[in-house]
Amino acid sequence: MINLTKTIAAFMFLIGMSHLSYAQKAKKQNNQLANKEAFIQELITKMTLDEKLGQLTLYTSDMSVTGPVMRDNYKQDIISGRCGNIFNAYTPAYTRKLQDLAMQSRLKIPLLFGYDVIHGHKTIFPIPLGESCAWDTLLSEQSAKIAAAEASADGLHWTYSPMVDVARDPRWGRVAEGSGEDPVLGSAIARAKVKGYQGSSLKNKESILSCVKHFALYGAPVAGRDYNTVDMSMQNMFNVYLPPYKAAIDAGAGSVMSSFNEINGVPATANKWLMTDLLRNQWGFKGFVVTDYTSINEMVNHGNVANEYEAGVAALNAGIDMDMQGAVYMTYLKSAVEKKAVKITDIDAAVYRVLDAKWQLGLFEDPYLYCDENRAKKSIMTPSNLQAAEETAIASMVLLKNENKILPLKNEGQIAFIGPFIKNKRDLIGNWSGAGNWTQASSLWDAVVAKTAGKANISYAMGANVTDDTVLIQKMHIQEFIDKRSSETLINEALTVASKATIVVMALGESEGMSGEAASRSDIGIPANQMLLLKAIHALGKPIILLLSNGRPLTLSWENDHIPAILETWFLGTQSGPAICKVLFGDANPSGKLTMSFPRSVGQVPIYYAAKHTGRPFDNSQKYTSKYLDIDNTPLYPFGFGLSYTQFNYSNFKLNQTQYKVNDTIVACIEIQNTGNRDGYETIQLYVQDLVGSSTRPVKELKKFAKVALKAGQSKQVCFKLTTDELRFYNANMERVLEPGTFKLFIGKNVVDVMETTFELSGQ
Ligand code: BGC
Repeated sequence: MINLTKTIAAFMFLIGMSHLSYAQKAKKQNNQLANKEAFIQELITKMTLDEKLGQLTLYTSDMSVTGPVMRDNYKQDIISGRCGNIFNAYTPAYTRKLQDLAMQSRLKIPLLFGYDVIHGHKTIFPIPLGESCAWDTLLSEQSAKIAAAEASADGLHWTYSPMVDVARDPRWGRVAEGSGEDPVLGSAIARAKVKGYQGSSLKNKESILSCVKHFALYGAPVAGRDYNTVDMSMQNMFNVYLPPYKAAIDAGAGSVMSSFNEINGVPATANKWLMTDLLRNQWGFKGFVVTDYTSINEMVNHGNVANEYEAGVAALNAGIDMDMQGAVYMTYLKSAVEKKAVKITDIDAAVYRVLDAKWQLGLFEDPYLYCDENRAKKSIMTPSNLQAAEETAIASMVLLKNENKILPLKNEGQIAFIGPFIKNKRDLIGNWSGAGNWTQASSLWDAVVAKTAGKANISYAMGANVTDDTVLIQKMHIQEFIDKRSSETLINEALTVASKATIVVMALGESEGMSGEAASRSDIGIPANQMLLLKAIHALGKPIILLLSNGRPLTLSWENDHIPAILETWFLGTQSGPAICKVLFGDANPSGKLTMSFPRSVGQVPIYYAAKHTGRPFDNSQKYTSKYLDIDNTPLYPFGFGLSYTQFNYSNFKLNQTQYKVNDTIVACIEIQNTGNRDGYETIQLYVQDLVGSSTRPVKELKKFAKVALKAGQSKQVCFKLTTDELRFYNANMERVLEPGTFKLFIGKNVVDVMETTFELSGQ
């Protein structure tokens, strides 16, 4: 206690001097925690209300802007202490310039620099939906770690990632940014990402603060339309949608971003139950919460408040610490304090949390810690980073169909390469590729030219633009990439090229801007002009290998019926070309498995495997059952599905017991053999069904998964340990219960292709 008083006294003395020496003093302290608290509390006592609100204010720089609003005089605001945080600014030189402005402010509190480092910084990795198909948490962690190393070398402290919104409606363009439809896989990836970004300590210069988003339920907008209303039962929230956020918080994520949507009538950004009762009080979150882009202001449109003043009051009182881009806190909270609509102690607590993050990042010790030009030169897009990106890209591809083992492609004869994604670089890095530079991406064509040199003869025709929808072209600003010739001319050119070939590789799909934010689609098929091309080439009767680039599940019924081989390549990032080429020619064996169901028709969505039975389960022969008149209930490609160039055989499925009590461990083992003649990876999935619950239970729920490497001919036994705690669920009273009874346990290659057994659980 005496020591603490002395420390505070020392700080008091120093405060009278300059705040740079204040910061230097901080460096010398031994008892980190006590000193941090004393330091921050003391600093807060010196701050004017404007300076406090400045720490709760985040503005975009003019380097790149990711939303609809830009503030002109943000630089002046930094100098006057009215803006403590900047996003969309990077590079050591630029962040240094802005940090210089903060050092001109009265208290010299360093700026925090944030950015959307979503799937890599400069070395771009596959879009998150693609990467999730690797089912490999070590790869997920590695890509986050590399992104953090590059971003921190490039002046950044804070990433708006991971995006952990469970998503079950592929019309929503932002499915591209998440890990698909499942809470257990989503939680595992969320943990891995936080670990990768933050490392063991934020003090480590190579790590950055992560921000879990979008809290909460942003992935469930009605009708898949971005920013739309979310209306959900508490059980669905707690059993399905909330676990990945919780997993990221438990893994130590230092910040959270509130979502744009409302939740059962109250926008997330004004939702006290969500931000304070749940996040802080129940989950014990200690970091700070930032809004999404102008989401405080947007409450006026939501209609839960009459004006921005009320919106700011509602947000602060809900537990939102930082206002992204809206300037509402800065404009209105002063008068809200005067009117006693918000408490100064709540503002102080929010300021504390923001300063705490800056402390943890070492910024009070050295505001320029991340502004080292030399480090940037050495750490960005290194050969090993590119190598890791290629490895991840390979692991993310999903082989959807491979009739008569047409793949891998033989490097011989005349191969025609046709489609707008063969030479394309622009789209490869996908949406939300932040600082990524698409001109640095390697195209498939370049890789194929190198691969086939002296072997197969190759030819090329684009055959179609990504789309010929002029409105879409304008919306996506892709005029410069459009071949102005008519669709007919392009198709005819492709037909001439294809007719001379023995086999045709076609690369089709969506442009990067057709998924991501504000990119919902009502038709999730391959664009019509590309389908015309595909059908025209198909009519030639040549074997076709279809490569798909897209940011969401697509409807592919015609393609599946007519095309012998289909490889899902998403947007794989900087190393797309070499990665696809390796899988195409068999230098690598595909192993990805889908993390979102692919519907047969958009009319089936939302579609997901963990559905409920209903009182009239699907039966095609019975009229009054839960089904469509015109289409099956099942997806075209189910969750967990993906082929390999080799085959795996599952056998000797057994449990350690068939009767369990609470606290027992269920051990399920399976023997798996690679029966083909190539080495490969297989992701084994374990699902459970609770046959009778006090609340109805899904037909299957993923509980465990394991990815194993198997050499040709090799066998391995894989055992999963499942605790009875993992069988708990939230019942109608919102209690997390474990109910005795009979359970089915499934192990298999995907959610449909499984072996099953049953076990009993007794006791409470
Ligand atoms: C997006 C966020 C993003 C933010 C900052 C918003 O429009 O919803 O995901 O982090 O902009 O760029």
